Amino acid sequence: MSYQYILVETRGRVGLVRFNRPKELNALNAGLMEELVTALEAFDAEPAIGALVVAGNERAFAAGADIKEMAGLSAVEMLTRDSIGRWDRLRRLRKPLIAAVAGFCLGGGNELAMTCDMIVAAETARFGQPEINIGVIPGAGGTQRLTRAVGKALAMEMVLNGRLITAEEAYRCGLVNRVVPAEACLDEAVALAQQIAERAPVAVRLAKEAVNAAFETPLTDGLADERRAFYMLFSTADQKEGMAAFIEKRPPQWQGR
Ligand code: CAA
Repeated sequence: MSYQYILVETRGRVGLVRFNRPKELNALNAGLMEELVTALEAFDAEPAIGALVVAGNERAFAAGADIKEMAGLSAVEMLTRDSIGRWDRLRRLRKPLIAAVAGFCLGGGNELAMTCDMIVAAETARFGQPEINIGVIPGAGGTQRLTRAVGKALAMEMVLNGRLITAEEAYRCGLVNRVVPAEACLDEAVALAQQIAERAPVAVRLAKEAVNAAFETPLTDGLADERRAFYMLFSTADQKEGMAAFIEKRPPQWQGR
């Protein structure tokens, strides 16, 4: 399949999607988002792929939703197009999704990064929700995921006052997993994805679901779901293999079942 706004490749067991609108700082127009979701869903369904990475370029991960595309629309047109509805498909991806973020990571760009399971940030990364500067608020999870990630105080400042934070601040407040030199960012994200892709796939899938459930469910329900998933994994060949390999002091050979 050929794409207009993204570059798609496979590295080992990792499916990699890079935004390709450099002149527009990878602004997320409807076409790019449709292509992104389509490519990621295709990787998600591909057994040879174990984890996914999304990236921008050195100057920008993404500078937000495409302002020029939406500037003239009415509320009814926004509602009927519901372009943010498409983002829900990202939440349904079963394989781990890692964002490699360098440069501007703003508005919808930051919301997209936060939709991912992990973020590897370049030292050059700048995170923010500057929608207030153009007379609106975040619309793809910025008020919700950012607040859960960094807490109320900083989220208020970023959302109400458009404050940008550095990669180092983002690391300190728990928004990103690690900060690396810009030139290493993509390779680090792919290497992290590759490590996870080589683990027992059913356990990885249930692990992702269980951690994400912590944001959705009361503790009692989350603990019960986690326990059921843990017990359920004892029906997999990979649990038998993983524990046997530990006892026999050898590396495990995963079968993904
Ligand atoms: N949408 C459309 N075009 C964008 C864009 C965006 N979000 N961000 C940057 N661009 C375009 C610029 O218009 C410019 O194009 P032209 O050369 O054709 O004028 C090009 O990318 C380069 O941008 P700048 O010249 O502005 O570059 P800069 O280095 O001076 O500034 C910047 C960089 C601070 C990121 C600035 O571009 C900026 O503030 N961008 C907008 C950020 C923003 O408000 N994002 C939120 C969007 S709304 C949203 O995301 C809603 C949501 O929650 C889903």
